[in-house]
Amino acid sequence: QGDVFTFDPGFTSTAACDSTITFIDGEEGVLLHRGYPIDQLASKSHFLEVCFLLLYGHLPTASEVEDFEFRVTRHTMVHEQMTKFYSGFRRDAHPMAIMVGVVGAMSAFYHDSTDISDPWQREVASIRMIAKMPTIAAMAYKYTIGQPFVYPRNDLDYASNFLHMCFSVPAENYEVNPILSRAMDRIFTLHADHEQNASTSTVRLAGSSGANPFACIAAGIACLWGPAHGGANQACLEMLKEIGTVDRIPEYIARAKDKDDPFRLMGFGHRVYKNFDPRAKVMKQSADEVLDLLGIEDNPILQVAKELERQALEDPYFTDKKLFPNVDFYSGIILEAMGFPTAMFTPIFALARTVGWISQWKEMLGDPKQKIGRPRQLYIGETLRDYVDVENR
Ligand code: SDX
Repeated sequence: QGDVFTFDPGFTSTAACDSTITFIDGEEGVLLHRGYPIDQLASKSHFLEVCFLLLYGHLPTASEVEDFEFRVTRHTMVHEQMTKFYSGFRRDAHPMAIMVGVVGAMSAFYHDSTDISDPWQREVASIRMIAKMPTIAAMAYKYTIGQPFVYPRNDLDYASNFLHMCFSVPAENYEVNPILSRAMDRIFTLHADHEQNASTSTVRLAGSSGANPFACIAAGIACLWGPAHGGANQACLEMLKEIGTVDRIPEYIARAKDKDDPFRLMGFGHRVYKNFDPRAKVMKQSADEVLDLLGIEDNPILQVAKELERQALEDPYFTDKKLFPNVDFYSGIILEAMGFPTAMFTPIFALARTVGWISQWKEMLGDPKQKIGRPRQLYIGETLRDYVDVENR
């Protein structure tokens, strides 16, 4: 047995912590934000209302919504000097690389919302992050395709403004398609928060040291980028395109099952959900709706996705291991149909998850017992030994 020692994780204030924001039941496939089921929020609410709910804990009254939307809308522009940052990147930079850099530097521009000991500065930083992330993401997109930046407009709703900043060009008038705007808003809502996922843990841990909110969000963006996390939406669509036709699905399923092959089905499986990810169900319905409304009949990628899901869920390898489609499995199909390149999929995830990161960061800093996170390791290395001079080694 040896010495049984108590293993103090040392990070109760940040990693395994209490929260009132999001509840997940992985076995039952349940996701609640402040008690409200994600499918009801996705169908009945809209993203800025969900942001208010995550930040303040209750569904807002009509006047609260109006006030919140006014505050967010008036913070959508970025400091003009920030636009100079983009020109330092190569045009082929991944938009996530640009977002990590630009967001990480925001404390150099917004000094009046970096003192985390001041609740008012924490509030201003929260509004600024939610408001400016669409602008920053759209500017990263425009920069990588060589088009001029498009300024936000105060007369557009949050999702429409993002589409306008991404797809309008000075040379012609651009009318936001309400179908796309509704689909965009729903995608934002489905990605808003997800309890203690890897990137939220990163933001909480960074925030626990007292780092400024912009640096914490930049850390979250960096973590989300990984293909095992938010980067899966880009990797999933690229996988579906590589499969190409339904007759090639068995080959990829065999590869995913092969222990010696590192390939995994992107968009499948989850650290917590051992049942259907409720967001994937809504996303699948939305993919059908959006493609139908856009008149995109028989999208081959959607057909491959549905057949891949069907075959995988009939295969004991996946069902025994409780591997189901997750939020990333269908989202890329919708985003591509909306006109986004795959490189913009994870920036859109980061844009939407900003409210979750900020809400969790605020909740942690609002806890008077909060301490710096300091996870411990279970040491399994060499026991004590003396140094040996090089001539005696
Ligand atoms: C997100 O945490 C969150 O909440 C994240 C997120 C959020 O909103 O923040 O929900 C967003 O990150 C969703 C996940 C996106 N990632 C992907 O879709 C990438 C593909 N999926 C995986 O790589 C994987 O499923 C993970 C990373 C999501 C989970 O990996 P784990 O923890 O290794 O999964 P597991 O422990 O449940 O795996 C059990 C078994 C293992 O095999 P054995 O060692 O038991 O033989 O299933 C295998 C895994 O190898 N497995 C897969 C698989 N996922 C797990 N085999 C094939 N294809 C897959 N996708």
